[in-house]
Amino acid sequence: MEVVSSLIQATPVLRDLSPVAQAASLAVIIPVLIVILNIVAQLVLPQRTAAPPVVFHYVPIIGSAISYGMDPYKFFFDNREKYGDVFTFKLLGRNITVALGPKGSNLVFNGRLQQVSAEEAYTHLTTPVFGKEVVYDVPNAVLMEQKKLVKTGLSVDNFRVYVGQITDEVNNFNSTDPAFAPFQKNVPKATGTVDIFKAMCEITILTASRTLQGKEVRDALDKTFADLYHDLDMGFNPINFVIPNLPLPSNFRRDRAQKKMSNFYQEIIQKRRQGKTDADESEHDMIASLMQQTYKNGRPLRDVEIAHIMIALLMAGQHTSSATLSWGMLRLASRPEIIEELYAEQVKVFGDSDGTLRPLDYDTQKVSLPLMDCVVRETLRMHPPIHSIMRKVLSDIPVPPTLAAPGTVNTEKSADSTYVIPAGHYVMAAPGVSQMDTKVWRDADKFDPKRWFDKDNVANTSEDKDEDVDYGWGAIKSGGNSPYLPFGAGRHRCIGEQFAYLQLGTILSYFVRRYSWTLETTFPGPDYTSMIVLPQQPANIVLTERK
Ligand code: HEM
Ligand SMILES: *[C@@H]1O[C@H](CO)[C@@H](O)[C@H](O)[C@H]1NC(C)=O
Ligand SMILES: *[C@@H]1O[C@H](CO)[C@@H](O)[C@H](O)[C@H]1NC(C)=O
Ligand SMILES: *[C@@H]1O[C@H](CO)[C@@H](O)[C@H](O)[C@H]1NC(C)=O
Repeated sequence: MEVVSSLIQATPVLRDLSPVAQAASLAVIIPVLIVILNIVAQLVLPQRTAAPPVVFHYVPIIGSAISYGMDPYKFFFDNREKYGDVFTFKLLGRNITVALGPKGSNLVFNGRLQQVSAEEAYTHLTTPVFGKEVVYDVPNAVLMEQKKLVKTGLSVDNFRVYVGQITDEVNNFNSTDPAFAPFQKNVPKATGTVDIFKAMCEITILTASRTLQGKEVRDALDKTFADLYHDLDMGFNPINFVIPNLPLPSNFRRDRAQKKMSNFYQEIIQKRRQGKTDADESEHDMIASLMQQTYKNGRPLRDVEIAHIMIALLMAGQHTSSATLSWGMLRLASRPEIIEELYAEQVKVFGDSDGTLRPLDYDTQKVSLPLMDCVVRETLRMHPPIHSIMRKVLSDIPVPPTLAAPGTVNTEKSADSTYVIPAGHYVMAAPGVSQMDTKVWRDADKFDPKRWFDKDNVANTSEDKDEDVDYGWGAIKSGGNSPYLPFGAGRHRCIGEQFAYLQLGTILSYFVRRYSWTLETTFPGPDYTSMIVLPQQPANIVLTERK
C-alpha cells in the first residue's frame, strides 16, 4: 500500500482525482506497469545463459497460453524460426520447454526415469477419469507391467475375431442409424450427406466395446453407459492439466461418473467370476484376458485394477481412433480417385468370380492391403491426434549440442556449449512438427499415401537406424531418429497401434466397399480446443452407394 500511495502522490494527474477515480486509474495503470516491466525484464535482464531461450510474451503468468492454445502448430513453427528446436514458453505460470525434431522427440520420449516423469505431468488429468491404481497413479514399473498385461490381451487370436465383430457393428449402424437414413430406403445408388465426425465417434465406441470391452459393455452402450461415458469424457479437459481439481460442475459429474463406471465394470467381473453370465473366460475381450493373468510376482489383478485399466483403454482408444477415422474419411473425400484405387485393391484381394467381395479377414488384411495401410499411415502423418506430449522434469536435463544448434539465439554460443533444462520445467515433444516439416518431406502438405511406397521414404530409412529396446512389454524401435512418431516412442509408447490399424482398416474397408464419397464443401481446418486435434464443424461428406 505504501508503494501505491506514494505512486499516487508522485503522479500529479492522479493526486487531483477523487479516491474512486484514483482506484479506477490504478486498476488500469498497475496491469500496464506489470506488462511493461515484464517486457523490459525480457529485453534487458541477461537470460540465464544455460537455460533455453524464453518465448517473448506480454503478460506474465498467462505467458503464451493464447497463441499456443489457438494454434499449437503455428506456435511451434513460428518459434522454431526464432529460437531453434529448443525453447521455453510460459503457460499459466508453468515453464514448458519444447523440444522439436527427431532429436527433440528423442530427448522427451527416451529421457531417463530420474530425469522425466509422465505421471507427474498427467496424473491430475487422468487419475480422476481412469480411477486409482492404474497408469499414472502407480510407479512407472507397475505401469510397464500393466502395459504388458494389456499387450498380452491384444493377441492375434483375438484380432482374428475382432474383424468380423467390427464389420458387424458398422453394418448394423448403417442399417439402423438415422444418419444413414438415405441408404435405408432401398433406392439404388442412393446419395446422402453425413456428419462424418459424429458418425465416426459412434462407430468407434460401438466397435471398441464390441471387441475389446466385451459384450456386457456393448449391451450397456444402448442404455446408461453412454451417459456415464459422456460425463467422464467431459472431465478429460486440458484445464485439469493446467489447474487441477477446480470445483467445476463438469469435474463433479466426472467424479460421480467415474465411481459408477468403476462399479459397473467390477460387477461385470464379479458376475463372470461367479459364472452368473453367459460371458466366460472364452470371451476374446480384454476383461477375460486380464482376469486370467497375474503380475510378475504371481499376484492376480484386483477387480478394481481391471475396471480402471478398462476405463483407461476406453478413453485412450476413443478419441484417437475417431479423430483419425474422421480425418482419413475427409482426406479421401478430397482425393476421390484414391477411394477408387482402394476399391480396386479390395476387388483384387477379396473379389470372387461372381463379382462379390469375400468378408475381410485379419491375416489377409494385415499383409495384402498395402494401399489401405499407406492411407492410415499418411493420415496419421498429417493428423496425429495428439499434438503435444509432456513430461515433468525431475532433474536438470543437458541438451545435446546437436539439438541446441539451429536458430538465431544460440549461434553465438561455442560449439560445445549446451542448454540445460532445469528441474521443475515441463518438457514437450510435438512429433507432428517434423511430420509436416517441408524440409523433411517432399510436398509435406499434400495428402499422398503413395509416398510410403518410396524406398527412400525418410521415416523408413531413419527407422532402420534405430535400435530395438524393451521396457518390459515387448521390443520396440527407440524412435530416436524418426521424424514420424504418431504413436510416440520409448517406455510410454502406444500399445494400441495394432488394434488401431485393425479397427481403422476394417471400418475404412467397409466404407470403400459400399460407397464412394466427396467433401460437401471445403476441407475443414483443425480444432485445437480439446486434447485431440479434431476437424472443425461442419465436417460433412457426401456418400454415394456403389450399387
Ligand atoms: C490412432 C490411434 C492412436 C494414436 C495415434 C495413439 C497415440 C499414442 C501416443 C502418442 C502415445 C504416447 C503418449 C505419451 O508418450 O505421453 C500413446 C500411448 C498409449 N496409448 Fe495410444 N494411440 C492410439 C490408439 C490407442 C488405442 C486404441 C489404445 C488402447 C487399446 C491405446 C492405448 C495406449 C496406451 C495404454 C498408452 C501408454 C501410455 C503410457 O505408457 O504412458 N492407444 N498413444
Ligand atoms: C520458471 O522459470 C523461471 C526462470 O526462468 C523461474 O524463476 C521460475 O521459478 C520458474 N517457475 C516455475 C513454476 O517453475
Ligand atoms: C446399409 O443398410 C441398408 C439398410 O439395411 C442396406 O440396404 C444397405 O445395403 C446398407 N448399405 C451398405 C452400404 O451396406
Ligand atoms: C516403409 O515402412 C513401412 C512400415 O514399416 C512398410 O510397411 C513399408 O513397406 C516400408 N516401405 C519400404 C519401401 O520399405
